[in-house]
Amino acid sequence: MRILIVGCGYVGLELGRRLTASGAEVVGLRRQGDPDGTMAAAGIRAVRGDLTRPEDLEAIPGDFDVVVCTASSNRGGADAYREVYLGGARNLVDWSRRRRLGRIVSVGSTSVYPQSDGSWVTEASPAEPTGQTGQLLVATEEVFAEAHRSGVVPTQVVRVAGIYGPGRGHLFGRFVAGEARQDPDGGRWINMIHRDDVASALEAVLRRGQAGRIYNAVDDAPVRQGDFLRFLADATGLPLPPAAEPRERQESPGPAPARQRGTSNKRVSNRRLREELGWMPRFPTYREGYAEAIAAVVSGTWASAGASA
Ligand SMILES: NC(=O)c1ccc[n+]([C@@H]2O[C@H](COP(=O)([O-])OP(=O)(O)OC[C@H]3O[C@@H](n4cnc5c(N)ncnc54)[C@H](OP(=O)(O)O)[C@@H]3O)[C@@H](O)[C@H]2O)c1
Repeated sequence: MRILIVGCGYVGLELGRRLTASGAEVVGLRRQGDPDGTMAAAGIRAVRGDLTRPEDLEAIPGDFDVVVCTASSNRGGADAYREVYLGGARNLVDWSRRRRLGRIVSVGSTSVYPQSDGSWVTEASPAEPTGQTGQLLVATEEVFAEAHRSGVVPTQVVRVAGIYGPGRGHLFGRFVAGEARQDPDGGRWINMIHRDDVASALEAVLRRGQAGRIYNAVDDAPVRQGDFLRFLADATGLPLPPAAEPRERQESPGPAPARQRGTSNKRVSNRRLREELGWMPRFPTYREGYAEAIAAVVSGTWASAGASA
């Protein structure tokens, strides 16, 4: 298999590692190329290029069995979403008219589900967000869906929950720094997934997924914000954060995708990925997923750098 990972960053690099280990030829695209040599170390061939520039895609040599798009807007607002996600999707689909691409797998977000009643949502639930960034993500999904329906290129979308893992975990970082606050009434449901499980979910979808289909990638254990903080306090011995002041409750700190989830309150189901593709998360819940970081906090070796990335 020859695979292109567009936006080969936190998740893309881990996916690339898995794919090269299984014998695939992997090319990774980033605007900065491979500044720290991590792609080369993972056996990924780095190409410098910008998804938002069609000419940069044209310059990538060869055809691909799969293109996985894991590029991120780097937290930006609606303009960045429009440029990177929507514009990037259009560029990839256009490019596929001139290349042989077996399929495109696009990473989306569970922030497209606007439900606010704490209910379970599946891929069949309405995805009609009210916020501008959420609507841009839906429009991006639609570009890929239309490309599939019209026979331009088979596509799949993987809606990913809040990603944590080595060096990442926004609420965890705030908790350890003593900056977290408990939301009122137990808080919203948080849906999470470890970086390594995002990578294995993407691999399952690209190898066994049905074209034209959407898959949620999330762990087994949505957790209320207050319960998560209580778990962290028990596990680390650090104090339980105080309740948020009324003014703080209006704000929902965090990177853009998390902010997007700020108004919604739902539990996202991974049943389709598990039952249709046999996907099994290595970290079924935050308890296993955060065990290493918690042990580092307890032993005093935890480094906060990048945790809020
Ligand atoms: N973080 C979350 O909780 C979360 C939740 C749901 C979904 N997602 C989605 O999951 C995907 C992967 O996230 P991640 O955490 O791995 O993101 P990341 O670490 O920010 O990596 C994204 C990579 O994309 C590259 N990139 C950005 N703009 C580009 C462009 N125009 N052309 C080419 N490459 C570009 C960046 O490198 P350069 O700067 O060198 O280009 C970066 O290495 C993203 O689509 C993100 O939106 C994230």
